[in-house]
Amino acid sequence: MCNTMTSLPNLLTIADLGCSSGPNAFEAIWEIINVSSNLYQSKNVGLPEFKVFLNDLIGNDFNTLFRSLPEFHRKLKDANFGQCFVSATPESFHGRLFPNDFLHLVHASSSVHFLSQVSVPQLEILKNTRKIDLKTIRITKLIKRDEIVRGGQMVLNFRGSTQSDKPDYKQDYELLGLALHNLVLKGRIKEKELDGFNVPFYTPSIEEVQRLIEMQDSFTIKNIETFTIDWGLKDTDLILTLNERAKHASYSFRAITGPILASQFGALIIDELFDQFEAMVMQCLEVGKLDMMNFVISMAKK
Ligand SMILES: C[S@@+](CC[C@H](N)C(=O)[O-])C[C@H]1O[C@@H](n2cnc3c(N)ncnc32)[C@H](O)[C@@H]1O
Repeated sequence: MCNTMTSLPNLLTIADLGCSSGPNAFEAIWEIINVSSNLYQSKNVGLPEFKVFLNDLIGNDFNTLFRSLPEFHRKLKDANFGQCFVSATPESFHGRLFPNDFLHLVHASSSVHFLSQVSVPQLEILKNTRKIDLKTIRITKLIKRDEIVRGGQMVLNFRGSTQSDKPDYKQDYELLGLALHNLVLKGRIKEKELDGFNVPFYTPSIEEVQRLIEMQDSFTIKNIETFTIDWGLKDTDLILTLNERAKHASYSFRAITGPILASQFGALIIDELFDQFEAMVMQCLEVGKLDMMNFVISMAKK
């Protein structure tokens, strides 16, 4: 961020979009503060102060999040970094959150693939064609952020797919769909309930994202990296049975999707649903790996 700005400000304003309530939010902010402070030091400039805005939807558990704040402040003090003022910005990031030319860095990890404001007709198109016209969805508002200063940066990390017409989410969300379908066949879930259930989640290809950024013409892409997460832990050194790997994958996915599934289908069905899911994961692991494709893209505001 500091490399793309003409001067180094005394106060760096940072937003983390879709911060959630877990420890990841402060870890990401710590990394940002660490890297920028080292950069200021290497240029013999006094350390900056930081103003950090933690954003998520209004239902997010900000209380839990802010319980980690004293520990975070202690860590910053021990490292002799500048003051950091943290506050919450509860609202959807698809809308306007900050004044014009306000932020030096926007960070979003595993949140921009959630299309919280996609309309039902758009979801139908996505379901039927597996294609979405990115121009019509509100992610464009995120990419076009007027809130970022010139030279300021946006770093996004999100789930993606390798080709626009072959979204990659079948490995986890499709298995979930199959598990839910099995419960419909067993009469444990009503077909109507399943038909009315949509996860507003889209994994674009990197080409789609690049095209969108170029179309918007507000940012210059600085770096793109792709990586896969082996959620069945096949490539790790851990000595695990197939069953343990399937359990791990099922627990991780349950942590992400459990609350929305419980609110749609009721908490009582969740154990049975994830037993089914785990069995399907196990079948997949018998024949291959379970990889999730991810992109990290950094861009500077023109
Ligand atoms: C998988 S969590 C990622 C949390 C954290 N950033 C991390 O990397 O661990 C996704 C978060 O994005 C939030 N989110 C989804 N759509 C959002 C929106 N439109 N505005 C703000 N937050 C949103 C969700 O509420 C959730 O907390």
